[in-house]
Amino acid sequence: MSCIASDSSFYTGKICLAPMVRAGRTPLRVLSLDYGADLVYTEEIVDQKLLSATRKENHILGTIDYCIEDDVVLRIASERERGKVVLQIGTNNGESAAKVAAMVGTDVAAIDVNMGCPKPFSIQGGMGAALLTQTDRVKEILSSLVATSQVPVSCKIRVLDDPSSTIALAQFIERTGVAAMGVHGRRRSERPGDSNREEEIREVVRAVGIPVIANGGSTEMETHEELLAFRERTGASSVMVARKALSNPSIFRKEGIYSMDTEIKNFLQRACEWDENYTMTKYVVQRMLGGEQEHDPRGKATVQAGSVVEICRAWEMEDKYEECRAARQSKRGDRVEKDET
Ligand code: FNR
Repeated sequence: MSCIASDSSFYTGKICLAPMVRAGRTPLRVLSLDYGADLVYTEEIVDQKLLSATRKENHILGTIDYCIEDDVVLRIASERERGKVVLQIGTNNGESAAKVAAMVGTDVAAIDVNMGCPKPFSIQGGMGAALLTQTDRVKEILSSLVATSQVPVSCKIRVLDDPSSTIALAQFIERTGVAAMGVHGRRRSERPGDSNREEEIREVVRAVGIPVIANGGSTEMETHEELLAFRERTGASSVMVARKALSNPSIFRKEGIYSMDTEIKNFLQRACEWDENYTMTKYVVQRMLGGEQEHDPRGKATVQAGSVVEICRAWEMEDKYEECRAARQSKRGDRVEKDET
């Protein structure tokens, strides 16, 4: 068993951006760190997808990119995210999970396995919440990751229908040697609107020795203090936030939350800086807008926008977009010159 993979101190006392497909990419992760998050999870990436990607050092952006042709599957801001980015994978077997660990090495600060996603795509593929009832698979996946990973390993579960089964599962997971575990206090059949089972998270905290990262509290928090209060109620060492951090990433700011306007502009600034694509940029801005998409003229313009520059224009951020594009172009020119001399 590798000591690094089981290093619980990495996950102790942390406030985290939870994994979110389409949203948990470089711009939102960097913004969350800038606001005060300690750790940031990537969106879930299925093992086979990552294994078919090619690793490239992007000297223009200062990132490490894993790409499938033009599609950036994973982009890590080398300096800004060093020691803070947790790669979340979707997997149904130990061999592929271990291959991912070997592939990413120390490009990421930790690796997490998604064991909570209830979507048909995950369940049918034997991933996500399908693993909650397959302890042999859980053991195989986590043990192979713990044996091969050069960084701490964790997993993220949901609570089971019977609280005593959740505890048995959590203790079983702990014995695989993982460093920590995220616990979302909703059952597989429950929806985001159902209330979060904080007491069941608390019972897991009492039953295991490794740090628990409490999750599921977004609907109960409007301020940073309420985020901390959620952690307090569960007794967990750490906490991870998804939906609230998507609509209001400044939930991570001790100094207070920002208005929607500022959130969107600050996000767009990072989207320009990290050269995020149109689909992902638009998705996050729309989530920040929520119901304002129909009322705010900038919201309507965002919905109609067909490119990142058009989204930026709607928010009077076109200059920032152009500035970042020009900076990249000039760096590209410099590199061509360097390569030729
Ligand atoms: C999620 N969630 C999620 N969970 C996970 O383990 N991997 C993932 O990739 C995703 N993707 C994702 C996308 C979006 C848009 C949302 C809203 C949620 C679930 C998420 O991490 C979290 O467990 C739940 O949202 C409950 O936490 P909150 O929202 O109450 O803080």
